[in-house]
Amino acid sequence: MRLLLALLLLAGLAGSAAAQTLTLAGRNGSRQVTAAALLADPATREVTIAADPVYRRAMTYRAIPMADLLKRLAVGDDDYVQARATDNFSVGIPARLLEGGPDAPAEAFLAVEDPARPWPPIPGKADGKSAGPFTIVWRLGARTAVSSEYWAYRLAALAATDSPFKRWPALGVAASVPAADPVRRGLDRFVAVCMACHRFAGAGEAEQGPDLATPMNPVDYFRPEALRKLLRDPASVRTWPDLKMPAFGPDALPDSDIDAIVAWLAYKAAERKK
Ligand code: HEC
Repeated sequence: MRLLLALLLLAGLAGSAAAQTLTLAGRNGSRQVTAAALLADPATREVTIAADPVYRRAMTYRAIPMADLLKRLAVGDDDYVQARATDNFSVGIPARLLEGGPDAPAEAFLAVEDPARPWPPIPGKADGKSAGPFTIVWRLGARTAVSSEYWAYRLAALAATDSPFKRWPALGVAASVPAADPVRRGLDRFVAVCMACHRFAGAGEAEQGPDLATPMNPVDYFRPEALRKLLRDPASVRTWPDLKMPAFGPDALPDSDIDAIVAWLAYKAAERKK
C-alpha cells in the first residue's frame, strides 16, 4: 500500500514537472531541466525589461543569462540556438547574439516562470495563457532592437545547431551573386523572420505555416503587389478566424526587407526553372 502511494506520488510529481521542463540540447549532450531547478540556480537573477514587446509593458522576471546557459551547453560562437516553442514555432538565433559580450547590442536571458507567482496572460491572445514556462527576453541598449521572432516564448526546448546556412545549403545563393545584391539580404531576413514558421523546400524546422517552395513558390501564384501586401499584413489580402501569420510593422520589417525577401523568393523560383 505504501509502495503504491509512493508510486502514485512519483507519477504525480513527474506529471506536473513535465509541464515545466525545458529540454537543453548542447554540444555536450542533452538534458531536461525543471523550472524549479533553474529558479534555484545561483546564476538566476531579477531582470527588468523596460519595454517587453510580448507583454507590451515593463516586466520583471527571474532569469538566467543566456551567456551562462550557453557556456554550460558548450555552444560554439558560430552555432545557432534553435528555440522551439510548445506550439511548433521554432526560431534559430545566432549564438553570438545570445552570448552578448561587451559589443553586443543586447543582453539575452532565459526567463523562468515561477509556478507560485505565474505571469499574466499574453495580451491579445485568446487562449489566456502566459508566456511561460520559459521565454527568451532581451535587455536592449539605447536605440537597439532585436528581431521580434527572437523574443521566443512558451519554450519547450533549446538546441545547439549549426547555422541554417550550413545545415540547409539549398537555401543559399550562388557565389556569383554580388555581396550587395538584395537577394542576399532577403535570404538573411527570410532565415531570421520567416523560418520561425515556414520551411522552404523542406529546409527548416518550423511546422506552423506552409512550406513556401513545395510544391509552388508564392512568387509563382501571387502578383508581386499582393505578395508584398500579404507580407506586411496578411489580413489585408484575405482573412478568416484562424489566421495565424502576424502582420509585420515597418520597424520589424521595413519595405526594403520585404522587397529583399521577395527578390530572394523570385531568385529561388527562377533557379528551379533553369
Ligand atoms: C508566426 C508564424 C509566421 C511567421 C513569422 C511568418 N508566417 Fe507566413 N504564414 C504563417 C501561417 C500559419 C500561414 C498560413 C495562413 C495563416 O494561418 O495565416 C502563412 C502564410 C504565408 C503565405 C501564404 C501562402 C499561401 O499560399 O497561402 C506566405 C506567402 C507567407 N506566409 C510568407 C511569409 C514570409 C515571407 C514570412 C517572413 C517575412 C512569413 N510568412 C512569416 C505563419 C507565419
